[in-house]
Amino acid sequence: MILVSVAIACIVSCGTANKIDIIENKVLVPSPIKYDGVESLLKRMTLDEKIGQMNQYSGFWNATGPTPKDGDAAQKYKNLKSGLVGSMLNVRGVEQVRKIQKIAVEETRLGIPLIFGFDVIHGYSTISPIPLAESASWDMDAIKLSSKIAAMEAAASGLNWTFAPMVDISRDARWGRVMEGAGEDPYLGSKIAEARVKGLQGDNLSDPLTIAACAKHFAGYGFAEGGREYNTTVISGDILHNIVLPPFKACVDAGVATFMNGFNQMNGIPVTGHAKLQRKILKGHWEYDGMIVSDWGSIGEMKVHGYAANEKDAGLKAILAGSDMDMESYVYEKYLKTLVEEGKVDVELIDDAARRILNLKHELGLFEDPYKYCDVEREARVIGSNEIILATRNMARKSVVLLKNKNRGLPIKANKSVAVIGPLVSDKNSPLGSWRIAGKDNSAISVEEGLSKYKAVDWTFLQGVQLTTEPTHFVLETKINENNRTGILEAVAKAKEVDQVIMVLGEHGYQSGEARSRTKLNFPGLQQELLEAVHAVNPNIILIVMSGRPLDLSWADEHIPTIVQAWQLGTESGNALAEIIMGEYNPSGKLPMSFPRSVGQMPLYYNCKSTGRPTQEENPDVVFWSHYIDEENSALYPFGHGESFTTFTYNDLKVSNTSSGFIVTIQLTNTGNMAGEEITQLYIRDISASITRPIKELKGFEKNMLQPDESKIITFTLTDKELGFYDNEGNYHVEDGMFDIMVGGSSEKVLKATAERITVDMTP
Ligand code: NOJ
Repeated sequence: MILVSVAIACIVSCGTANKIDIIENKVLVPSPIKYDGVESLLKRMTLDEKIGQMNQYSGFWNATGPTPKDGDAAQKYKNLKSGLVGSMLNVRGVEQVRKIQKIAVEETRLGIPLIFGFDVIHGYSTISPIPLAESASWDMDAIKLSSKIAAMEAAASGLNWTFAPMVDISRDARWGRVMEGAGEDPYLGSKIAEARVKGLQGDNLSDPLTIAACAKHFAGYGFAEGGREYNTTVISGDILHNIVLPPFKACVDAGVATFMNGFNQMNGIPVTGHAKLQRKILKGHWEYDGMIVSDWGSIGEMKVHGYAANEKDAGLKAILAGSDMDMESYVYEKYLKTLVEEGKVDVELIDDAARRILNLKHELGLFEDPYKYCDVEREARVIGSNEIILATRNMARKSVVLLKNKNRGLPIKANKSVAVIGPLVSDKNSPLGSWRIAGKDNSAISVEEGLSKYKAVDWTFLQGVQLTTEPTHFVLETKINENNRTGILEAVAKAKEVDQVIMVLGEHGYQSGEARSRTKLNFPGLQQELLEAVHAVNPNIILIVMSGRPLDLSWADEHIPTIVQAWQLGTESGNALAEIIMGEYNPSGKLPMSFPRSVGQMPLYYNCKSTGRPTQEENPDVVFWSHYIDEENSALYPFGHGESFTTFTYNDLKVSNTSSGFIVTIQLTNTGNMAGEEITQLYIRDISASITRPIKELKGFEKNMLQPDESKIITFTLTDKELGFYDNEGNYHVEDGMFDIMVGGSSEKVLKATAERITVDMTP
């Protein structure tokens, strides 16, 4: 709010706002520009105009990064009119987009339209579950649809480019941005990356209801040391090629239109200036022909990293390394021309960058009609449509993970008295999560609203204790209540009276996301105190955990019989949760990240390497094995874990050889008395290899709905694609030898067989 009003005040005081006419949105205005293809346009462009295409400014209404000193509105408008800007971010809504586009099209010499980017990360106006939550569905069709819907709303609002998907693998729940990714596994992460790119872009980028996707942050950002945002990363070749890069490669294979580099330095080189990553691997080996945008100010920040002597040097390093567009650093606009004139930058590099950007504008159809995304009628019809709301609710249901349900506390029985307690019970803002800038504040359905519809239960809703002390905002620190205990006594008194307690606790939606790293993975503020106080008088508790990351739920696991991981589920949060609590929907989500026993286990991930001493000594008093003296090694809830209201069993694991791999079959049976979906997971371990391999690696999964007593034989095929790995230099190997093959309902509960891979020479 503060930033927004400052920006508006600046526009007014700078006297530029009144010079901009808002044109009527009713008639689509064809582009007045003379356009006969990108190559011909390039020939007509001056060096300034080409460099202009490489600049991206943030708009005047929202900021999603530190607002730079040089970025004042008057100068931005001046440069827009001079054709020195290629793209804007944070301009949204048909009216605003049209207004800015009109400047580019009608007031600049060549009339080249702008592309409008925005962080559409989990929905645009209708907010879907945070990406980590959606990943728990392991449902690629649902994730693709969720991305498609986000694109539809964004496109209807004038946008044509989103900075998503974030495909950074991360193993550290302290890092706030885990909420934005697909978790810790590169196989699952790659499938999700592909689904998201296809959902956002559709089959045809020029369709006015699709937008360009952006694979980010290339690369390694998720490995920030200590989980501290923007921190240094140290990543070996093995980890880079086997863990970090595969989801990015999946985006390229899915036809992603753009890439974003990042803030982090990797092994001493900021990735924004990393030529090996951008020029050699991405634009070279992977033959990616789209454009790369920097992250917000990340070109200028190379100076602060200590990698560039000054801004000019940072610009030189960025362009040489392959960064095509400068987001909010103002470095390219200031120094690129001089760098060319001094002979330090070959003009061909400028042509190449401008060409990539213009090609995208061409593919989006902006040269045909620069206002094609600016249709007020479409905006009104698409945003928040009934169809979108229903699909968002369905995605929310699928994202929930039932962590435990010991005494079948869920679904709850009708005709009971139930106290629903916790600071997130009635909260309509926090479930919207972190990246929801175009979402309306307080627009989520709360748990209270969702449950109140069920009249057969005698509900009481109590806050118990406040979570935050001040209004929350995307750009501001979230202030947590550490002292005010008002409400605890009332909650305890009510809990004593009722048959059943439901507690809704967790993090505020603004405690994860960008710049929200934590050193503790507990319930923030006074929530643990509230939980223990209620538990002391009524242990019959169903705990609903809302968080943007895995929390340490050790105490809860020991004392609470039923725990549900509800993340931040977006607009339809309360409706989806109510359906699960009442048994109208049987949850099937499985964790995409390991949940720790202690924050000291970070980084924690299932696909770790063995040590030389992985198991306990025969004499348990002897210390010489890889362990902590005060905690178990394993996760509290491992990757792939998630229960159901029904039960599933696995039998009859069979493995047979093919010419270069294996066929794996297993029988899955629904042994409970409710229909339910199960996500069956296939893991391998290459027991001995020229580079050590993880003790388990996900290599397949399948989601099936089974009726009670129904069985199904599930078949997986393992080929060179699944059985091989990259060495430290990035060369792919597939080696013969023994493999463990494991199948089951989580990374820990598996049946195991061992088989030998022998390549059969098929040459006659
Ligand atoms: C910085 C973030 O790291 C990036 O993911 C985002 O797209 C940009 N800001 C633009 O808001």
